[in-house]
Amino acid sequence: MNPPPPLAPDDLPALLAAMPKAELHIHIEGSLEPEMIFALAARHGVALPYPDVEALRRAYAFSDLQSFLDIYYQGADVLRTEQDFYDLAGAYLARAATENIVRAEIFFDPQTHTARGVPMSAVIGGLSRACAEADTRHGVSAALILCFLRHLSERDAFDTLEQALPWREHFIGVGLDSSELGHPPEKFARVFARCRALGLHVVAHAGEEGPPDYIWQALDVLKAERIDHGVQCLHDTALVRRLAASGVPLTVCPLSNQKLRVFPDLARHNLGALLDAGLCATVNSDDPAYFGGYLNQNFRSVFAATGLTARHARQLALNSFKASFAPAADQARWREQLDAVFERHGVRGG
Ligand code: ADE
Ligand code: ZN
Repeated sequence: MNPPPPLAPDDLPALLAAMPKAELHIHIEGSLEPEMIFALAARHGVALPYPDVEALRRAYAFSDLQSFLDIYYQGADVLRTEQDFYDLAGAYLARAATENIVRAEIFFDPQTHTARGVPMSAVIGGLSRACAEADTRHGVSAALILCFLRHLSERDAFDTLEQALPWREHFIGVGLDSSELGHPPEKFARVFARCRALGLHVVAHAGEEGPPDYIWQALDVLKAERIDHGVQCLHDTALVRRLAASGVPLTVCPLSNQKLRVFPDLARHNLGALLDAGLCATVNSDDPAYFGGYLNQNFRSVFAATGLTARHARQLALNSFKASFAPAADQARWREQLDAVFERHGVRGG
């Protein structure tokens, strides 16, 4: 039999869009589009400091993580009721289905809302209702991960955990996000230990802007099962060896890294180097409403800029299933679907 024909470069964007994939690093508040900000402001009679959607979009010019977070927390102020959180997650999950996302593990930041007087029941109630419906409505398996804001105290994280525990069955794990520099993972050692004892999965943002030492702490102190971002690991060869040997995945977010200037440009993104080093890297959108694209745009842009191939695409999709907290039977089904899509696109084997 003749070997399969090589994949024509023109087919790569279609393959990237068609392949089933898991998204493991998406902040639901980061999927709040300017149009929805204006709609929710109108729903609640809130005045915005921007005259229209275009003016708001023009403000999305960031120089680093903090410059983004300032505007991101401001945007989240229009989220007030259970219906708002349901609408937000529903919109993301409908979009995810069109991008052939079969599994979404969704971050949410309860402290951003409870600090404004929004009840925890509205936040988790609305988000979890949308997630529960996603399977039957869209064929997307969805789960929630509660993130602690690292610029706040560990005491605040403990209080937030206590407030969330009545809804324990509605989230599968906890994470750590917000301003990284100056807020090392070890600050949250005790609250993460308590979360592990409760049987929650644990993940943490580390090595986005912060040093490799923060990734070591996330692994050794928090016992993180995944590292969110983690792109700074390549500055530490012992850390790369550790990540490769342990298989702890990295949830990499190319357009986020570009917009927040983690890399000078996308062509110099290190996704290919992470894969070449044998790490379980995945591609994710982080905050798609703010960074210029959802998951498929992240794939398209980083592949175009760095010259990754169909072989890398398959590896990234497989990594996303393996890195997920989904049941093994679901992962096996998605791998079969992946093989079928690659067959259809004329790509066989490794
Ligand atoms: N919250 C939302 N997006 C984030 C990011 N990229 N890093 C840290 N915290 C975040
Ligand atoms: Zn993030």
